Amino acid sequence: MTTRRKKIYEGKAKILYEGPEPGTLIQYFKDDATAFNAQKKAVLEGKGVINNRISEFVMTRLGAIGVQNHFIKRLNLREQLIKEVEIIPLEVICRNIAAGSLSTRLGLDEGTPLPRSIIEFCYKDDKLGDPLVAEEHITAFNWASTQEIDDIMAMTLRINDFLSGMFGGVGITLVDFKVEFGRIWEGDFARVILADEISPDSCRLWDSATNEKLDKDRFRRDLGDVIESYTEVARRLGIMKEMPTVIRGGLH
Ligand SMILES: Nc1ncnc2c1ncn2[C@@H]1O[C@H](COP(=O)(O)OP(=O)(O)O)[C@@H](O)[C@H]1O
Ligand SMILES: [Mg+2]
Repeated sequence: MTTRRKKIYEGKAKILYEGPEPGTLIQYFKDDATAFNAQKKAVLEGKGVINNRISEFVMTRLGAIGVQNHFIKRLNLREQLIKEVEIIPLEVICRNIAAGSLSTRLGLDEGTPLPRSIIEFCYKDDKLGDPLVAEEHITAFNWASTQEIDDIMAMTLRINDFLSGMFGGVGITLVDFKVEFGRIWEGDFARVILADEISPDSCRLWDSATNEKLDKDRFRRDLGDVIESYTEVARRLGIMKEMPTVIRGGLH
């Protein structure tokens, strides 16, 4: 593990270090897994390496279709260079099929297709358990402007369309996902870009043929084979074919 850089922030799944230039950070992917607002914890050996690669792959492809994001380049197995943003304190959730908290809240059977894609906002605050909020709260408390909410929703729907197609092409159904956005200041003007990560930690991914879960729900629900499932997602996307042996060798 790299210790020579100044640690800016340590979260549940990642660490942010000072980057080599102003306006950059290094995002380090840990093996730590948490669920239910960190009440459940484990170390899943190799997870950080896989998520670093999957997030690189997804961010690079989104960048290529014009979805601006924080990814600059991958540095090594667990680290990527990113643009520093001013994080908008929202977890933006996009859902295609009912699952998780939406199923609980509205009494929908998990797996029920939604009439259209639904975007939800949660206020990013671990102490409060990331509560669901409405646009009214977001603007009233100045977490984001109306224009920024519009931009975020438009970007999220583009991300959803692109990822649904990308995963669909390799036999994976994108049930839902969570993204975070941040501001990059250009003089007085703030541009909203995609930040954080997109990985099996932040998406629900089901095998299209069997509905088998290939995401963090395997950890949340003690289904086992978490790393194997994440590796399967990476394998289907055509990345890190070397991963299974690397994981077995142990990585730090
Ligand atoms: N480009 C970025 N610039 C600044 N902060 C970021 C960027 N991308 C992600 N972050 C923040 O870094 C943290 C990533 O670490 P993570 O372990 O996911 O933290 P958390 O436990 O808060 O979810 C998150 O709080 C996320 O909002
Ligand atoms: Mg996080």
